Amino acid sequence: MRGLTDIHNHILPMVDDGAKTVVEALKMIKMQENDGVKNIILTPHYRKGMFETSAEEIEWKFHKFQEYVEKKGFDVNLYLGRECYADTALMETLLKNPSFQMNGTRFVLVEFSYHYDFQKIRNSVYELVSEGYNPILAHIERYACLNKHKEYIEELIQMGAYMQINTSAVLGKMGFSQKHFCKKVLQEHLIHFIASDAHSLQKRRPNMKECKKYVEKKVGVEYANEIFVRNPQLILEENRR
Ligand SMILES: [Fe+2]
Repeated sequence: MRGLTDIHNHILPMVDDGAKTVVEALKMIKMQENDGVKNIILTPHYRKGMFETSAEEIEWKFHKFQEYVEKKGFDVNLYLGRECYADTALMETLLKNPSFQMNGTRFVLVEFSYHYDFQKIRNSVYELVSEGYNPILAHIERYACLNKHKEYIEELIQMGAYMQINTSAVLGKMGFSQKHFCKKVLQEHLIHFIASDAHSLQKRRPNMKECKKYVEKKVGVEYANEIFVRNPQLILEENRR
């Protein structure tokens, strides 16, 4: 199995609540490589008052880490993105920090509060799309308002949003209800990306291969390839802004 892409994880060390050391980050990269993951978009958190590492510092650390991973001989390509928390300053934050865009494309990875109502999520998506971004909604299995309303997810997709769920949720490691939700939305073909959201060797550890196999079994090889290989290529290849 070659050419998988993980579009959401916290492997870049010492910048958020992800990998705590370079050694831990390298072990996570090794796990990804063993899983057949060829491309990894590193997406440290950005959230005011919680994770505020500057764009400059992240970029510097990313290039250092990328050089190190290359020197160590890993067969993976690293790219940079950011997981941005949707607060009232989201648009301002994105406009000020072009490097928060996924691999310099119009794609942006956005996470919401678990308890936001649908209007709030819809308003954010509307603003983002109006500004020309392609918003990817991170781990939608966590949002209460989307859980019971498939039609809300369809509406957001119609508006121009992309849907991402986590491998751990798909595989049932986050409990039955998230697993059930993931299975349902996969069967409805409402999901564009599945990513590890890996934070460490223990917490949401990289497990892309196991998840791809599960998805192949549940909804077929064709759709699994679309989610794990072809859709991520859009982020790796889209013309830079
Ligand atoms: Fe994340």
